[in-house]
Parts: sequence; C-alpha cells; structure tokens
Amino acid sequence: MAGGEVRLAKLVKAFDEVTVVDGIDLHMPGGEFFSLLGPSGCGKTTTLRMIAGFEQPTSGEILLDGKNVALTPPHKRNVNTVFQGYALFPHLSVFDNVAFGLRRQGTPRAEVRRRVNEALAMVHMEAFAKRRPAQMSGGQQQRVALARALVLKPAVLLLDEPLGALDAKLRKILQIELKALQQEVGITFIYVTHDQEEALTMSDRIAVMHEGRVEQVAPPEVVYEEPSTTFVADFLGTSNVIHAVATQATASGCEVRVGEFELTAGRGAIDARGETKIAIRPERVTLEPHGSTGPNRLAGMVERVVYLGNANQIIVRLPTGEALQALVQNTGEKLAYEQGDPVRAHLPAEALRVLADTGAAEIEEQAAAAA
Ligand SMILES: Nc1ncnc2c1ncn2[C@@H]1O[C@H](COP(=O)(O)OP(=O)(O)OP(=O)(O)O)[C@@H](O)[C@H]1O
Ligand SMILES: [Mg+2]
Repeated sequence: MAGGEVRLAKLVKAFDEVTVVDGIDLHMPGGEFFSLLGPSGCGKTTTLRMIAGFEQPTSGEILLDGKNVALTPPHKRNVNTVFQGYALFPHLSVFDNVAFGLRRQGTPRAEVRRRVNEALAMVHMEAFAKRRPAQMSGGQQQRVALARALVLKPAVLLLDEPLGALDAKLRKILQIELKALQQEVGITFIYVTHDQEEALTMSDRIAVMHEGRVEQVAPPEVVYEEPSTTFVADFLGTSNVIHAVATQATASGCEVRVGEFELTAGRGAIDARGETKIAIRPERVTLEPHGSTGPNRLAGMVERVVYLGNANQIIVRLPTGEALQALVQNTGEKLAYEQGDPVRAHLPAEALRVLADTGAAEIEEQAAAAA
C-alpha cells in the first residue's frame, strides 16, 4: 500500500508547564517498522497520542503523507491505534468487534464479511469468530485487537506496548508474527515499547527516547553496536561505560587513559579530548591470566561470577574502582577464573567506543553556535 509517511517537526507537548515531549524531529517513510524505545515516562505514549490525534501538540507539526494534520480529528486521520489493554468491546463477538469500524463507515454487508474474515485470517483467528473477549486468552485478544485495527486499512498503525501484558514466551512468538504481518501488509508501524529486545527484534529503525527527546535514530544493529550517547549505550543491553581521559589521535583511533593504563579506542567520537567515557559490550571483553601482555589490556580482580545458563557473567573490579563485565560463553568446560583471581581484561580497539554524549540539546547548541 502506498503512503503512510509520517513526519514530526519540532514537536513539543507540555502539561501544565511541564514539558514531556521536548522538540522531536522524526521522519518515518511509508512501510517502515519504526519503534519508539525508552524508559517509563520518557514521552512515548504522549508522542503516539499526538500522531493519533488524541492529544494536541503544544507546538510543532505532524505531517501525514505531507499534509499537516493539526486540525484533523482522530477518526479522519488515516491512522489506527492498538492499545495495550486491547480495548475490545466485551459484549460483542470477535467477528462483531472486528466489523465494528467497517459498519460504522457504512460498508456493505458482503464486503464487511469478506474483509473481517480476511483480517481474522491474517492473525490466525478465523476459528474464534463467534467467541467473546472474555472467552479468550490475552494473546488471542491481542490478535483480535490487531485484526480490528488492520481491517480499516490504515496507512499507519500505531501500537502502544501491545504485547506488554503477555508472558515472555508468547511475546516472542507474537513479535515474530507481528513483524511478518507488517511486511505482508506493507503499512507503516509505529511501535512503542520500553523493552529493548522487542525493539531490536522487530524494527527497521529505532528512536531511543530519553526525557522527551530523541537521543539516537538508527537501525537496531547500529543503536546496539554504535550507541552515540551514554544513555543509549546503557539503555540498550548491558554495556560497560568507563571513565577515561582521551589524550591523542593514534593510527587506529583515539588514545585513552584509564587509571594508569593506556588503551586505543577505535570507534565512536575518536576526536574527543579530555574527560570522556568509553563503552564496550560485555561479550567483546576477553579475560586473560594475570601477567599476560599486549596492547589494550586492563588489570583487574574477579569480584563475582554469575551463572546465566548459556554464559557466565564475570564482574571484574578495576584499579580505578569501576566494575567491568565480561560475558564468557558456556562451552561446558570449567571456568578458568574464580572470585579473587587477578586477571587481565582485553578490550579490543575495534570494540571500544568513545561516547560523544552530544545529546539533542548539545547538538542544537552546537548548531546554534555555528550559525
Ligand atoms: N494528561 C497528562 N497530564 C499531565 N502529565 C501527563 C499526562 N500524560 C502524561 N503525562 C506525563 O508525561 C510524561 C510522559 O508520559 P508518557 O505516558 O508519554 O510516558 P511513556 O514514555 O509512555 O511511559 P510508559 O513506558 O510508562 O508508558 C510522564 O511524566 C507523565 O506523567
Ligand atoms: Mg506509555
């Protein structure tokens, strides 16, 4: 289906003087699976409700397929919302729930039947047409809520933590189904979640939000592998964020000092100088016996070993007092290190990032200063 392009420009929402959405600029092309990811209270739902039209922006613009929808009421926007609580009509059957919007539009009977059956087939719920919501599980109700939204063929579907109430296993199944469904119908999905794994699994691109602002917008592998700020590095998966002092450029990046050790960080803001932060994922840290030599190594002491089943998480205390996590895959062999052992941690330059920590505010300030 063509269309479904959403553009947010300098979008702001304040409730009683408190700004909860603080100048968001985003462009979602038609057909994209786009996620808004961030911690509780960062303004995800408020942003979604403004796109849907349930909330008026304090300032800024929302463009749907190039058209400013400021004055368009929710039901006239080519947008539909799936809420966390499903919001099915309890007294109506599954069929009638899905048919509701079509009937209200005055769609002819035969077409209603065809389209409802088609929508139920899409979510594998044909067999449940006669049931009432109370006679179904959470996952089944969720599928019906999706069918009810999809049957109206919106150009954009807004989903606010739609899997939040389901157990972990069902969530995983529905994540994959939902992504497949989105690709099949080809409409724009704007998906709100605070669950980073969910966003990483399903999205074409993710906007990581923090206190009403967007910190980074990028495909999943980029926000995970190349977080641009401390917040993003911290929020997406576990990341080691260590204080460092950036000293000078090297052939392969930026030289940083951590305590008395010198390391090369090959990625991120390698032009930074002075006090900074460096980040590395636990799975990229390797531990070696005490006394092993080579570049990009820090000394430390194993403080704790946590058994995770498929891996062991090893917490190493650095001489600077900071903790460093290493993730060691469980190969069935006995772990080489235990609590109290002195070790060397190898932090490969190509996995070590200097964090820019230029959040949206600083970027704006820099732009203003440059202008
Ligand atoms: N109608 C309102 N009046 C006043 N404050 C509000 C209103 N709606 C939301 N807020 C505040 O705006 C902030 C952002 O809320 P929002 O619901 O957008 O967060 P969220 O990112 O969706 O969080 P969660 O993950 O918990 O759902 C919160 O601090 C919230 O208390
Ligand atoms: Mg919310």
